[in-house]
Amino acid sequence: MINLIILPGDGIGPEIIKQISKILKSLNIFNIKINIIYSYIGGISIDKYNIPLTKKTINLCKNSDAIFLGCVGGYKWEKYYLKPEMGLLELRKEFNFFANIRPIKCPFKNIDFIILRELNGGIYYGKPRGISKQIINNIPTWYSYNTEIYNEQEIIKIARLGFNLSKNRKKKLCSIDKSNVLETSKLWRKIINYIHNYYFDVKLKHIYIDYSTIELIKNPYIFDIIITSNLFGDILSDECSLLTGSLGMLPSISLNNKSFSLFEPCHGSAPNIAGKNIANPVGTLLSLVIFFEYVLNNKFISNKLYFSIFKTLSLGFGTLDMKNYLNNFKLVSTDEFGDLVNHFFLIND
Ligand code: IPM
Ligand code: MN
Repeated sequence: MINLIILPGDGIGPEIIKQISKILKSLNIFNIKINIIYSYIGGISIDKYNIPLTKKTINLCKNSDAIFLGCVGGYKWEKYYLKPEMGLLELRKEFNFFANIRPIKCPFKNIDFIILRELNGGIYYGKPRGISKQIINNIPTWYSYNTEIYNEQEIIKIARLGFNLSKNRKKKLCSIDKSNVLETSKLWRKIINYIHNYYFDVKLKHIYIDYSTIELIKNPYIFDIIITSNLFGDILSDECSLLTGSLGMLPSISLNNKSFSLFEPCHGSAPNIAGKNIANPVGTLLSLVIFFEYVLNNKFISNKLYFSIFKTLSLGFGTLDMKNYLNNFKLVSTDEFGDLVNHFFLIND
């Protein structure tokens, strides 16, 4: 029996999570039993318990085989000291989810690569950080600072995963950094080069982050695995989502050393469209595809779900954000999209 904890979170989180709950219910007819519990993270947890991630939620996660998350954040908590996003960052740190795999795959185009984002370090967690006041030019002035830090061990860990993933794909790894300016990137590049010695059959290329944004739009077909830091990976994955239609399309899996994993779409909580039943659930549904493959170890079910999503999109059904992307576009709501995918998932063909 697999134990899954679902944390819907804020904004569009509950709406998109509802669509995977439908599929998980349908698993009954395939005689697959998953034990599911729900808990809180982010803004909704702040509202209930004054903190974005409680010990109780952490303990429930510890007793599960995998975590499934919607998204966190929203206008309501912008002025709060403890932000919803801190709950997600704490969760990633608590379980040492050091690697975040974001597949950029478009079934309608020949695009199929992976962004491997370092997830436990860099400027997201570096100290010192803060906002303070200082006298500058005789004027009391606010100033703010963050620190980007990477140590050798952190880079080695993510580099090894990158090269290992490459071995099972096209044996092409592209590392993205800013080593013409940043020390952290200089060390990053040096260590990636060093680890490359152990994987001489993988072709390694380094490019700078600024130029990579152009290459990713102009020539996305040349990429296979991209390895990059926490911040760069966050930014680049939003850019790359447009290659597949919209930000709502991307799934992700975060891993630690103990084959425990966190599944979540790459997008945020989109408070501007929350509660309207118009959010795109594809990123979440695709995260479930990856869950079926790697946690359930069931290729039949993961393929079945993938083709159900693909079929729905191929027929032109999509949420509003997919309007200019799909042929014969037919507008459907979040719920209707989920129902269509579930329908195709349940029929035998
Ligand atoms: C993401 C999100 C998060 C991040 C936020 C919500 C903290 O943007 O998963 O890409 O920056 O990592
Ligand atoms: Mn992001």
